[in-house]
Parts: sequence; structure tokens; C-alpha cells
Amino acid sequence: MKRITKAVFPVAGLGSRFLPATKASPKEMMPVVEKPLIQYAVEEAVAAGITDMVFITGRNKRSIEDHFDTAYELEAELAADGKQELLHIVQEVIPGHVNCIYIRQPKALGLGHAVLCAQPVVQDEPFAVILADDLIDGEIPIVRQMVDVYERHHCSILGVQDVPREHTRRYGIVSAANLEPNVERVNGIIEKPRPEDAPSTLAVVGRYILTPRIFHHLAQVQAGAGGEIQLTDGIAALMLEEKLLAYRFAGIRYDCGSKLGYLQAQVAFGLKHPELRDEFAAYLATVRNP
Ligand code: UTP
Repeated sequence: MKRITKAVFPVAGLGSRFLPATKASPKEMMPVVEKPLIQYAVEEAVAAGITDMVFITGRNKRSIEDHFDTAYELEAELAADGKQELLHIVQEVIPGHVNCIYIRQPKALGLGHAVLCAQPVVQDEPFAVILADDLIDGEIPIVRQMVDVYERHHCSILGVQDVPREHTRRYGIVSAANLEPNVERVNGIIEKPRPEDAPSTLAVVGRYILTPRIFHHLAQVQAGAGGEIQLTDGIAALMLEEKLLAYRFAGIRYDCGSKLGYLQAQVAFGLKHPELRDEFAAYLATVRNP
């Protein structure tokens, strides 16, 4: 069995729900407290033993490359000023044994197309896909949980959670049969169904483990709504050929691609932050609805 050593981070979307913040800088660099979303995502992959980080980038994404690179001038200045603690924070953004690989998606043709762009690097290995704007806080990092399921079942796995029925239009929704605690066997998947058409309320959120056969299917997928190549369509085709599981991860998800989810993440992470939590909690207790 091949181990999972690669994670794909599609970061080439337009981030239009966060304009104007995303006009010149990527959504994935937006911080929750002091750490950008993409760093949480990379740390989650590192915690799962993944060593090759494959970023699918687009225009305006240079700051992501800079973030994971050495910052010579900044480091020299912090060292000269004796700011050792800050120097460590800057140097420890990524562990030394991890490789960062950048692939450009020439046009935002959809999440499925972004994943397909990773094929030359991933080749014939199973891999993880992590959407940094789904920030998921779990005692055990979510990708770690999913790699553990993979090591038992050796097939593609979708990270899922139950959502309110009125929200099915925002997600890929699966129909599935229970296999073991928290693991379902998927027998159908549909992108953004209307609540009345949704086969369940089990929604796919931004964590996937995929077998390399997905590339074959993504290459065949026709552009759907909005001219985008949907990952869901590729997964639906994969499901007809291979076992596909859905895993109900243990953790709280914040949809940081939406303004409300992003604000909720700031509050939750602020309330956990070792330096901030007491003062922040005291401040929140004073906040009243106008
Ligand atoms: P979203 O659906 O959140 O799209 O993409 P978006 O463009 O980032 O944001 P909005 O909807 O305009 O506000 C889900 C993930 O897929 C990536 C995005 O970067 C995000 O992480 N993506 C999407 C790509 O990498 N390429 C694409 O062509 C589309």
C-alpha cells in the first residue's frame, strides 16, 4: 500500500465573497488571529505525516510562496534587534523536511480543474486535498484522522459533516450507507442540490483523500454550471469504479470562505489563544447587540 505523502492545496480561486480584501491578496492569506489560513492547513498536513505540499496557485498568489520561503531581510532585522521569539515564529512557519511545490492554474476553471493541475507532481499516488478556507479545529488534526481511515480501507475518502437542510445548495451532498462508526459507504454524490432534491444532509467539506484514478475522470469531466470543472463530477465517476467512503470527522469546522464563518473562527480561536483568551473573553462579555 502506498503511503500518503502529498497534499494538494487549491488556492487559485477568485475569493469573490471577500472582495475587496481579495483584490490583490489571496483569501488563503487572511489570518485567523495571527496565522494565515493556509498555514493552519499546511500544519494539518504536516501533522498527518505529509511531506510534499503542492499548491495550485493563480494570479495574486505570490504572497503564499513568500510566506513559506525564507525571509532573509526580515530574519536579519529580527536577529539584529535580538527579537529571538519572533525570529523563531518566522523560521518555524514550515519544518525543514517539508517540500513546497507550486503549480500555476492558468485560469480559475474550477476546483476539479485545480486538482487536475496537480497530476504531474502527484502521478500515481493517493493524495490529500485540503481547502484552506475550511478551517477545522480537531483534537486530532482532521487529515490525520482521514489518513488513519485510509490505512484501514485503502480507498478515496471524503470529509463530511451534517448541515442544515436549507444549506444543501452550498455543498456537494452524498447519499451513503453506514459502514462503521463515523464511516459511510458512498453510493451517490450531487453538487449543490436544492434542499428538496438533496438525498441527505451529509455535506462534503474541504478535506479529501483521493486515489490517483481521479485524474483520469477529471480529465473527462465537462465544464458544468458557471463553466467550472467540478471536483464532485470527477468523484461521482470515480465512485462507479472504486470504493468511496465518507468520514464524519471529529472537529469543528469554520467556513472561512464566508464572512460569518470567518468571524466565528476569529472568536473561537481568539478565545483559545494563550495570550489573548482572558482579555478577549472579558471584552466579549461586554459586547451587546445594538
Ligand atoms: P470556492 O468555491 O470557495 O471559490 O473554491 P473561490 O473562488 O475561492 O471563492 P468565492 O466563491 O469566489 O468567494 C473552493 C476552493 O477551490 C479553490 C479555491 O481557492 C478554494 O480554496 N479553487 C477554486 C481553485 O484553486 N481554482 C478554481 O478554479 C476554483
